[in-house]
Amino acid sequence: MVFASYNQEIISLDELKIPVFDRSFFFGDAVYEVIRVYQKKPFLIASHLNRLANSLKEMSIENVPDLRNDIYQNISLNDISEGMVYIQISRGSLPRSHSFHNLSLKPNVLIYSTPFFSHPAEKEASTGTYAITHEDIRWHRCDIKSVNLLANCLVQTKAQQAGAKEAILIRNNQVTEGSSSNVFIVKNGVIKTPALSSFILPGTRRQFLVNFFKTHEYIVLETTIKKSELYEADEVFITSSIKEAIAIVAIDGHNIGHGQVGPIALLARQAILEAADQAAQD
Ligand SMILES: Cc1ncc(COP(=O)(O)O)c(C=O)c1O
Repeated sequence: MVFASYNQEIISLDELKIPVFDRSFFFGDAVYEVIRVYQKKPFLIASHLNRLANSLKEMSIENVPDLRNDIYQNISLNDISEGMVYIQISRGSLPRSHSFHNLSLKPNVLIYSTPFFSHPAEKEASTGTYAITHEDIRWHRCDIKSVNLLANCLVQTKAQQAGAKEAILIRNNQVTEGSSSNVFIVKNGVIKTPALSSFILPGTRRQFLVNFFKTHEYIVLETTIKKSELYEADEVFITSSIKEAIAIVAIDGHNIGHGQVGPIALLARQAILEAADQAAQD
C-alpha cells in the first residue's frame, strides 16, 4: 500500500478521493514538484521547496502550510530508500468558475512517494538516448511548475512514436528545454544551457550543474542556443531530478558528435550522484 498525505491526513493512495470541484480537475489550477529520494533522503529539497514557493507565488495560491515535515514523514511511512516524492497543491475546491477573484479557497495538498526498484536513469546514462526536436507549443509561463502538462505529454508521445525518448522544444528557432528536462550542449569545450526566462522551468539539476561546472572552472554560458547549434554540438545532454544527466546521441536522426555518450554528460551525472551520496551521509 502507498501512503498518501492529503491535507495532512494519512490515507492509502488507492482510496484517496479528490473532490470533483478541485480546480486542478477543471482548470489545471495546481502546481507540483517531484523530488528524487536517494538513500532515504530527498535530494536538493531546499531547491525544490524554493521553486514550489515561487510557483505558488506566481499563481497567487496562498495559505499553504510548511510541507517539509510531511515530506519526510511520507518517505518514512512508505519506507522509500530509492524513489521519488510527488507533491501537488491545487488552489482548492469550489463550484466551477474561471475567475478566483475574492474566492477564499483552502489549497488541497497531496503528497505521496513511490520506490524505484531499479535505477531509472542507469541504462540510458550508459548508452545515451535519442531525441526529436519539436516546436514549443506550451504557454508563456513555463517557469511555473503547473500541472498543465498536456503539451508536454503530446510532444513526448510524438518523440516516443518516432523511436526517441525526449522532445527538445524550439521557440523562435531557439532551444528552450526538453518536454520534461533541461538541455545542455557542449561545443569546443564550452558548455551552454538556455538562460532562465519565463519559457523554461528553472530545473534543480540545471542549477546544480551550472554551479558545479563554474566551481570546477569549466566555461559555462547561460545563453541562447539556436536549433542549428544542437546538430553541430560535440555533446548534448538533458537533465532532471529523475533522469539526472543523460546524453542525447542523436537528434532527428542526426548523430551528435560521434553518436556516443560524451565526457561532459558523464561528468554531469557523476557529479549529481556524488552530491546525492554525500547528502545522504550528512
Ligand atoms: C519541463 C521540465 N523542464 C525541466 C525539468 C527538470 O527539472 P528538475 O531538474 O528540477 O527535475 C523538468 C522536470 O521534470 C520538467 O518537467
